Amino acid sequence: MPEFRTVRGMRDFLPEEANLVRYVEATARELARLYGYREVITPVVESYELLAAKSGEEIRKRMYAFTDLGGRRVALRPEFTASIARLVATTMRNEPKPLRLFCTGSLYRYDEPQFGRYREFWQSDYELVGSKNPEADVEILTLTNDLMRKLELKNYWFKIGHVGILRGILGHENVGEEEQNRVMQLLDKKRWDEALTLIRGLKVSEGGVKTLKKVFETRGKDFRRVLKGVERRIGGYDDALSALANLREILELTSESGAEFEMVVEAGFARGLEYYTGMIFEVFVPEIDVALGGGGRYDRLVELFGGESTPAVGVAHGIDRIALAMSRQKIPPRIPKEPRVVVIPLSAQLKTWALEISLKLREAGVCAEVEVMSRTLTRALQDADRRGMTHTVLVAPEELREGLVVLRDMEKREQRRVRVEDLGREVLRS
Ligand code: HAM
Repeated sequence: MPEFRTVRGMRDFLPEEANLVRYVEATARELARLYGYREVITPVVESYELLAAKSGEEIRKRMYAFTDLGGRRVALRPEFTASIARLVATTMRNEPKPLRLFCTGSLYRYDEPQFGRYREFWQSDYELVGSKNPEADVEILTLTNDLMRKLELKNYWFKIGHVGILRGILGHENVGEEEQNRVMQLLDKKRWDEALTLIRGLKVSEGGVKTLKKVFETRGKDFRRVLKGVERRIGGYDDALSALANLREILELTSESGAEFEMVVEAGFARGLEYYTGMIFEVFVPEIDVALGGGGRYDRLVELFGGESTPAVGVAHGIDRIALAMSRQKIPPRIPKEPRVVVIPLSAQLKTWALEISLKLREAGVCAEVEVMSRTLTRALQDADRRGMTHTVLVAPEELREGLVVLRDMEKREQRRVRVEDLGREVLRS
């Protein structure tokens, strides 16, 4: 037999890792509740056309795409936004706006595996649909900040930009959408020089190239200063100026609303996805050089899928990548410690009783296991210790005749006799 391994880019999560990943997911779900986002569950398999439209070259060529047995061209979802936009354009078309929707689950991209980048990964995704106002953008930023805070991540920072600035300049210079997308893909990969070479080849005016070069270089922590600097350089490019004004409004509102987080505003920032039309952002921690989450405004996707013109803004957080960041920063999941009990029958005849007592414990809400390895008492206690069980219950013939068992507190190393009916309550109290 060959030795089976996971397929390249795929992972197993062993109990401790799974626990951390589920903790991040539970925190993300709690955040959805606090912000009023309702969960929807969409399929892992969607039509290729849907997922490919506006996702961007980078994602398109990395999709797990195949023809199913019915001859349909399908793919495993690489993200949630397309599925949500499909829902909003079709089944949920008549729902009153704004719609706040939340999704979580696994996604698939044939990315080159590296630390924090896998071919199967998990996201928590939030989409706020129906508002074009800056307060909607602020909500998505604030929600992301809250997730980072709730998970106690340290030194995280946001990278923020607006696709309208670059697209505004390129559009004014008569660069078509396809070419603009190619420029954006290069910028997403920080290949600024190649982007400039491409731009020069597109017959952009000398002044235009100079402006773009300056814009690519403009970044900083003080958003007012950065935006002022960009504004000085993009005079005459009206669409770029209104994009800048929109970004300024979002960031002023964020700062006035009291949300505090580190940010770097980058005028030449682009994201791989093509559907963005407004503010875009990503969030990072110093320990990992790939983003923990990213999002932005996409006002035309719903329309593209046949719905009414519907503005929208959203974000997705990489659940397993965040778990990795927490491990790097040595942040344990804040899961309250609960009692865990092993019920040990002292002889083979007492197995039935051990099983019955374990049922009673679980009914009382206590996690209970039965010793199933026929170990001696000493060995069973050693094993319980090794696995960090909080209690053991010893089922012995003499005690049982009086309706009692021995409850042993493994931490305090104390034991006492307890009535079987009271056992659950006693464990929870101690
Ligand atoms: P994205 O930037 O492609 O955006 O992905 C969001 C997050 O998913 C990333 O920041 C990262 O944490 C995680 N992620 C992406 N690819 C991988 C991978 N190969 N391995 C591990 N984690 C990964 C979107 O997906 C958009 N749909 C976000 C959005 C929602 N925009 C508007 N609404």
